[in-house]
Amino acid sequence: PFAAIILIIMSNNLLTVAYIGAIALFIISVWGLSKPETAPRGNIYGIIGMIIAVVATALSHEVTGYVPLIVAIIIGGTIGAIAAVKVAMTGLPQMVGLFNSFVGLAAVLVGFSELLKLDYSLVGVELTIHKLEIFIGVFVGAITFTGSVIAFAKLQGLVTSKPAMIPGRHWVNLAMFIGCIGLGFEFMAAASTEAMILPLSIMTTISSILGINMVMAIGGADMPVVISILNSYSGWVGTATGFMLSNDLLIVTGSIVGSSGAILSYVMCKAMNRSFLNVVLGGFGEGANVTPGAKIEGEATPTNAAETAELLKEAQSVIIVPGYGMAVAQAQHAVSDITKFLRARNINVRFGIHPVAGRMPGHMNVLLAEANLPYDIVLEMDEINDDFPKTDVVLVIGANDTVNPSALDDPNSPIAGMPVMEVWKADAVVVFKRSLGSGYAGVGNPLFFKENTFMLFGDAKKNVTAVYAELTNSATETIKETVLVAS
Ligand code: TAP
Repeated sequence: PFAAIILIIMSNNLLTVAYIGAIALFIISVWGLSKPETAPRGNIYGIIGMIIAVVATALSHEVTGYVPLIVAIIIGGTIGAIAAVKVAMTGLPQMVGLFNSFVGLAAVLVGFSELLKLDYSLVGVELTIHKLEIFIGVFVGAITFTGSVIAFAKLQGLVTSKPAMIPGRHWVNLAMFIGCIGLGFEFMAAASTEAMILPLSIMTTISSILGINMVMAIGGADMPVVISILNSYSGWVGTATGFMLSNDLLIVTGSIVGSSGAILSYVMCKAMNRSFLNVVLGGFGEGANVTPGAKIEGEATPTNAAETAELLKEAQSVIIVPGYGMAVAQAQHAVSDITKFLRARNINVRFGIHPVAGRMPGHMNVLLAEANLPYDIVLEMDEINDDFPKTDVVLVIGANDTVNPSALDDPNSPIAGMPVMEVWKADAVVVFKRSLGSGYAGVGNPLFFKENTFMLFGDAKKNVTAVYAELTNSATETIKETVLVAS
């Protein structure tokens, strides 16, 4: 009786209406996520859309096995909820990488199951199209699965983040790709499921190796672009799965994820000064072929919280450049306190955000929004880079690769050509970090040895808090002195 009720309530028309509603909500959600102000609302639209999509699909005619479905939802939902609660902001890119891999794996499994229950009543072009959908879905799914697992392992530090390249890897990749096309012809020509299984299985193995090979070869600073590309792949994989299952919602949602991922990849390629075509054709990590960059010599000038507070008090204009270290130290609230203190004294304080600062797109913007900083003082690199020569003090909080002058000066540097925040052009630069060690790309940074750079060594949160304490102490002292003089 339960199934009968469901059959009545979820007619095909109702399902289509529910899917259109979910698609509309997903589109509004992506639009909302484009600005920090509207992002929370965008998230809520996305959640509502996803609930409608899951419930409508579960209640559709084709779904009958409710027990395994409910068990799967409980297990998957629990794992997802625990992961979302436990993961630190700095671990989000790895989590996204891992979730992308699930989409790839799901496409491979759906492809094989579609083959095992292939509908032989289909004939001619319809059968050809369905077989093509299966083959392409499994191919992209397998590459996305293994590529995303390697990206996760690299970001988690489980395998080296340096590029690991086999000799002649482009030729090997090309040979594997051509091999997959050949297997595709064999698959399409086969007339029975038994005859199709073998070419599909061999292709799955080859494309899995292809995914590993492509991502293993990627070097440090190129990783953001790769994650974004894999994210886009996972969208196209969803579209391919939608075609296999004749599910319109998956086709449209997959296309939204695929195309927005592709646009983000393009934007990031531009920010990293890499060619999109080069990356798409598997040329990522090419910059890693060059030598590790010129040796950096010189002496760094250490400073302390009191001196930094003095510099700030004398300044008229200050730019704060945050990076991954601010996220690790969770220093954003202390940074916000200093900003409010200085702004209350009419000092012009702004933030400069490099497009790949941190470990995920928009990482710094999210942290600064969390610390309630006004959005209008948070500027993109292109908007603020020309202002450094007119700036009195720059505070670099846990940033390294994104403020490295060797990207512009040293053609042998692995990050050569990447646009960076030109902080050294300001009158004084204070760098908050624990050592003279390198950042994600593993490259030495000549900024630390420049005459106008002062190193404030230690945990960023501890030091930013100490600078704030110095600023507020001296403010209290001034008030006391004024009161004494007056009396
Ligand atoms: P990084 O170059 O990674 O440098 C971060 C610095 O923070 C480190 O050198 C470290 O120096 C310092 N640090 C770590 N913990 C700290 C703490 N508790 N207190 C103070 N400092 C601390 O950061 P960035 O300038 O933001 O550049 C980002 C890099 O990540 C780029 O190479 C980018 O390509 C890559 N990447 C970005 C993304 C995205 S999408 N944004 C994704 C993956 C990779 P000490 O050890 O000396 O303290």
